[in-house]
Amino acid sequence: MTVDWRIESFDTLESTQELVKQRAVDGEAEGLVAQALEQSGGKGRHGREWVSPKGNLYLSILLGPECSASEAAQLSFAAALAVSQTIDEYITDKSMKVLKWPNDVFLDGKKCAGILLETELNESGDVEWLVLGVGINIVSAPDIGVAVQDYTEQEINLEEFRDHFLAHLSSYKEKEFSEVRGLWLKHAHKPGTKLQIKLGNREEAGYFHDIDEAGNLLLRGEDDEIHTISAGDVYFA
Ligand code: BTN
Repeated sequence: MTVDWRIESFDTLESTQELVKQRAVDGEAEGLVAQALEQSGGKGRHGREWVSPKGNLYLSILLGPECSASEAAQLSFAAALAVSQTIDEYITDKSMKVLKWPNDVFLDGKKCAGILLETELNESGDVEWLVLGVGINIVSAPDIGVAVQDYTEQEINLEEFRDHFLAHLSSYKEKEFSEVRGLWLKHAHKPGTKLQIKLGNREEAGYFHDIDEAGNLLLRGEDDEIHTISAGDVYFA
């Protein structure tokens, strides 16, 4: 069943993520999408800041609770694919775009979009609510990133881009994870790509092998063993 999105737009917010999480706590139903034209305190993964000037896309989306924690994590791959397909509709050279585990989108070797998945679990460990935060650099990016507009001749209209993304998200979220996984792999770094993983103080290097049926990263270590990574910061080494 596709979701009927209810879009609420704001000029400025501290963070769309905080707004939608509060609305989820207050009992809001699935389908709320908060968009801010700029954020004063945008949040990235691992407690980092997401610099959010005007011109880029900042969305937080409240999705349905009927799923386990692992199914929720799989949704972030569906979201990455929805971002990827939307970007493909604009950029001239699609070979420049690569998905990086777990849900980053890279253009020309630099990050252009990030996804933040936050959930609240109930006592049985099932998801009470799930908020998907999506930040896409449309016209500007920090030094370590790039903006989609620099890779297309078309002038990107933010609302049109958002609506394409939401339509793609509706359809990817209905797909079985086996299909999402296959599509994600098609657009991701190729097996053998050297990756560096940071988790707290621990660092691990290896070569991309695959993702498993739960979405975990399978990394071939220098020892030729396959290591399963469920969380961490991944860099191209
Ligand atoms: C990442 O670190 O890669 C994830 C970035 C997610 C940023 C988005 S922008 C909209 C939403 N509101 C936030 O404060 N963060 C997310």
